[in-house]
Amino acid sequence: MLPRCAFSVCHVLMLVLCLSAAEDFDWTKNDHGSFYYGTFPAGFSWGAGSSAYQTEGAWDKDGKGLSIWDVFSHKKGKIQQNETGDSSCEGYYKVKDDVSLIKELKLNHYRFSISWPRLLPTGIKSDHINEKGIQHYDQLIDHLLENKITPIVTLYHWDLPQVLQEKYGGWQNISMVNHFNEFANLCFERFGNRVKYWITFNNPWSVAVEGYETGEHAPGLKLRGTGAYRAAHHIIKAHAKVWHTYDTQWRAKQKGLVGISLSGDWGEPVDISNQKDIEAAERYVQFYLGWFATPIFHGDYPQVMKDFIGKKSVQQGLGTSRLPTFSPQEKSYIKGTCDFLGVGHFTTRYITQKNNPSSRSSSSYFSDRDLAELVDPRWPDPGSEWLYSVPWGFRRLLNFVKTQYGNPMIYVTENGVSEKMLCTELCDDWRIQYYKDYINEMLKAIKDGVNVKGYTAWSLLDKFEWDEGYSERFGLYYVDFRNKNKPRYPKASVQFYKRIISSNGFPNQREVENWRRKAVETCSSSNQLLAAEEQRSTAANILRLIHDPLTSHMEMVTEIVVPTVCTLSILLSAIFLMFLLRRRN
Ligand code: NOJ
Repeated sequence: MLPRCAFSVCHVLMLVLCLSAAEDFDWTKNDHGSFYYGTFPAGFSWGAGSSAYQTEGAWDKDGKGLSIWDVFSHKKGKIQQNETGDSSCEGYYKVKDDVSLIKELKLNHYRFSISWPRLLPTGIKSDHINEKGIQHYDQLIDHLLENKITPIVTLYHWDLPQVLQEKYGGWQNISMVNHFNEFANLCFERFGNRVKYWITFNNPWSVAVEGYETGEHAPGLKLRGTGAYRAAHHIIKAHAKVWHTYDTQWRAKQKGLVGISLSGDWGEPVDISNQKDIEAAERYVQFYLGWFATPIFHGDYPQVMKDFIGKKSVQQGLGTSRLPTFSPQEKSYIKGTCDFLGVGHFTTRYITQKNNPSSRSSSSYFSDRDLAELVDPRWPDPGSEWLYSVPWGFRRLLNFVKTQYGNPMIYVTENGVSEKMLCTELCDDWRIQYYKDYINEMLKAIKDGVNVKGYTAWSLLDKFEWDEGYSERFGLYYVDFRNKNKPRYPKASVQFYKRIISSNGFPNQREVENWRRKAVETCSSSNQLLAAEEQRSTAANILRLIHDPLTSHMEMVTEIVVPTVCTLSILLSAIFLMFLLRRRN
């Protein structure tokens, strides 16, 4: 992730110039600041999301096998404060409670993921199917449907079975394609009569780059310059295989859709009159979202990736490119394997051209791109270090998808903002602002002609935020992780999002401002209640700590000291009595 960069005066001036020049773009006719009042197309689907490892807990319960995240998070020094997802939100035990929250929001869909090792403890179908795991997802799906909420199910949100990592090297190995296909097929077989929206992979960019290149995520491998490309290659093949399996074996009967969820930041040229910056910004997006989307829609990697990685590989004295290649048969097998595209989007970067030296030792995905990322210091960044709020970047990314991939059907599968708070804060005004502006940019994109069918707020609950542990909260609902019951409390953004949903957009300025005012008003009393509740539970915890040694001390006194003293006194009295009697005789 990019550190918060300070901008030079010259950069700021340049950005101001760029911002005004950017108005020439076709799809930026509305200037960045203007708000568009209007509604979404009828039938637009509103939702919220979660993922298994981030929320379920129950990491070793009811026959679940280990995932790479269970193992990685238990290693010291990998996660902030050495936290783990062992219990997280205890979502495994709170299906009914969480569905009530979803109902309260009046969501049309709920996005969640299935834990592969909960169904197949070793990852391999022929080894063992864990029926208890199946029952858990059956219960969740049924409960959603009873409440008229459409399940959107992700098959892989990063929790690879540990056995597959240990035995084969995980996504470095081509055998994952078949194992994943078997797992997906099992899900289609058991849940496909009720689930109609399937997402094969969530954000494969992170899996490849953070799992196999930088090692910040599980399985923590640092195979710089090759690991990410290899992992991505196998993931793309696995996605295509699963799509074909559904297409040939299940589609006619189940009539569902299979897509993939790709993440992408938008990259805006620092200087839009500079051709090199324009090309660098395009490269940034191609190396991010295009890396996966281009093979899936067009059959092969983006030309710019092939050119840059190929050229650098030659300079590094390698016989072949570090970017693997698809055979002609593979290209046609992969092309077109997407019924809808899931888009996960959070933030934007300014991009400028920067040549990186290409020595073999310094080869990496990042240096292959020959660019530098910059941020505008005026962009709000309330939470995660990398997450700056830049709503207009969202509209541009959506338009990019439209023009590059033939206007596919899009579901926004993740969008939201975190907070870094030491104390409890339910009045999340900045999140209301973020949702308001980002959702509005999505509305503008739809007016531009982008085919967006649904939106998923990320996330329903505060949860385990990967290497950041619990330090970053993305939830619409606050979770009190210090309380073992993991109670959930609505933040102000719940009220605001609910209003957007019930109006299917933004009716007019007065009403939208009213929503905001009301949401913030009601949250301050819940905030006080929660603060009091937390004080009470902190006090109770302290008392328990003080009380505990006292209790054990008392127990020792009554159970050991008192009986011993009594016995000794009786014995001593008996001896003394005998002594007295003897003397008298
Ligand atoms: C994308 C990941 O898919 C999700 O799990 C995570 O919570 C968000 N990024 C925020 O970091």
